[in-house]
Amino acid sequence: MFDVHSLNMTKDEKYRDILKTIDSLVKDEDDIITVMSTIAFVVKSSFDNLNWVGFYRLVDEKTLKVGPYQGGLGCLKIDISRGVCGKCVTDKKMQMHNDITKVEYHIACDSETKAEIVFPVADKEGNVRAVLDIDSLTLNCFDETDVNYLQKITDIVSNKYNKN
Ligand code: SME
Repeated sequence: MFDVHSLNMTKDEKYRDILKTIDSLVKDEDDIITVMSTIAFVVKSSFDNLNWVGFYRLVDEKTLKVGPYQGGLGCLKIDISRGVCGKCVTDKKMQMHNDITKVEYHIACDSETKAEIVFPVADKEGNVRAVLDIDSLTLNCFDETDVNYLQKITDIVSNKYNKN
């Protein structure tokens, strides 16, 4: 059983556990919503400083809709011309902001959020289908370890889109 409160682990060790857990839970599951829900829970519950972990799905050429996610109420929908999530879709690139208060186009759903990292989830044609959005209560908390492992987690979802 996944231990959501493993103490004394480095971030790298924690992510290795997380990845193993997610892999084993979703390896035979092709339903995108089920996979996203599982990832949101496992990642959010693994780190005390994360206040929001989840997905916005692109439901037409310019609209992101929230869910599945773990955390407080977020915007229900976001036009891709707005916010860090919108920029992630239009640039098709990971966005990492270790001090979100300095990002004027950030949409503040929770005033406690200090840092944010967002990954595009693309299918094999390279079309962005969703974003993985992670918010933290801690300034300067995201580094190369997060980027490396969260990209692998994002790839798991991308691969599921390729089967649908
Ligand atoms: N961070 C987003 C808004 C959504 S909430 O953080 C859940 C943005 O600026 O795109």
